[in-house]
Amino acid sequence: MPSVEGIGARRAALQILDAVLRRDRTLDAAGSAIRNLSPPDHALAVAIAGEALRRLPDLDALIDSATRLRLPDDSKGRMVLRLALAQKIGLGTPDHALVATALPLVDGGPRRLVHGVLGTLLRRGVPANDTPRLPIEVEERWRTAWGQETVEAARRQIARRPALDLTFADDAEAQAYAQAHEGANLAANHVRLRSSSVGDLAGFHEGRWWVQDLAASLPARMIEGGARDVLDLCAAPGGKTMQLAAAGHRVTAVDASESRLARLRENLGRTHLDATLVEADALRWEAAREYDAILLDAPCSATGTFRRHPEVLYRARPRVIAEASELQDRLLDRAAQWLKPGGALVYSVCSLEPQEGEAVVRTFLNRHRQFQLDAPNGLPNFVPVSPEGWVRILPGLLETEGGLDGFFTARLVRTG
Ligand SMILES: C[S@@+](CC[C@H](N)C(=O)[O-])C[C@H]1O[C@@H](n2cnc3c(N)ncnc32)[C@H](O)[C@@H]1O
Repeated sequence: MPSVEGIGARRAALQILDAVLRRDRTLDAAGSAIRNLSPPDHALAVAIAGEALRRLPDLDALIDSATRLRLPDDSKGRMVLRLALAQKIGLGTPDHALVATALPLVDGGPRRLVHGVLGTLLRRGVPANDTPRLPIEVEERWRTAWGQETVEAARRQIARRPALDLTFADDAEAQAYAQAHEGANLAANHVRLRSSSVGDLAGFHEGRWWVQDLAASLPARMIEGGARDVLDLCAAPGGKTMQLAAAGHRVTAVDASESRLARLRENLGRTHLDATLVEADALRWEAAREYDAILLDAPCSATGTFRRHPEVLYRARPRVIAEASELQDRLLDRAAQWLKPGGALVYSVCSLEPQEGEAVVRTFLNRHRQFQLDAPNGLPNFVPVSPEGWVRILPGLLETEGGLDGFFTARLVRTG
């Protein structure tokens, strides 16, 4: 049988979606496991699977509205229909191409059912949707924590492609770059672009900037300048290490992952910045001295990055969040031992779960009476500082400018 045009990318999209939803892989890892596709087909496969993950609850509701048979969640038929509808809604693929590339994927399976459901939905008209629903558990959790407005902002954000944020070592360069590339300077050393193809952008190979969501640049901004001895814990791939090194600090960067540290080393080489790298588990490593400042950017559920990594909404189950929170407590306790009196310990997570942010800091302060929250200075003025003194970035902040990742950061000062 002659092969249908575009089927390779769709087959790969099916493998990726399956790996994410049934085997708990990240979208990046599942995409990297796909070989033998041309770069455009590979990009298309990841885009289709990503689009399905952004819209999964709505796609499932559409599918269920067109058949009385309940297709199991992880069945091939449902997966193929999700991918076809995601292409229709998110990528504008023509109907004939959707059908032609969907049916061969269910050869030997429920081909007639898939054909029937797709035909019904296409005849009925598949509505465009700028505010796709998030998984119900996530909506409930975020509604309880942050309110309905935040849930609605998150729905708007997941449908859009986030802007590209660059951090520059040098602020004057950032300003000139924004002018030359129609970018916006939303903070010192920062440029926001609408384009998203990193490797093609001027200045990447020369190491003038690195990609970093504006929210993720806040913790390093909370460590005051002045050539301090700074410990960067959980440092790789090094966005914050580079900020600290560019600000003139002597940085020791610790991370447990060899491969991620290799990326950090590459990043430092490309940007001509310097730091001492240590491959170690921070729960076992012992610092040989005390530091003026410590930044702990802890491993977390990463639910704040749902715009770029929609699968986090499915991977961050309550048990995952509880385990992350416990690890964060332990890492903070370790970090606290290595700080000089008067020094600042900045804690951050790219999570929208209070269990990993506010709750971790509250219990830390109960365990460590010699620490207190210190409202940060030097942040861009759009950044909200809570009455307690920490920074919580929610979906909806700076929305007209393109939004930010969900984030939490706090500056804890050792008083005694
Ligand atoms: C949120 S990422 C760090 C991002 C980084 N700070 C940046 O700005 O590019 C968390 C990092 O923690 C590291 N990690 C996880 N558990 C660790 C541990 N016990 N000790 C040291 N590093 C750990 C992971 O390898 C990962 O690189």
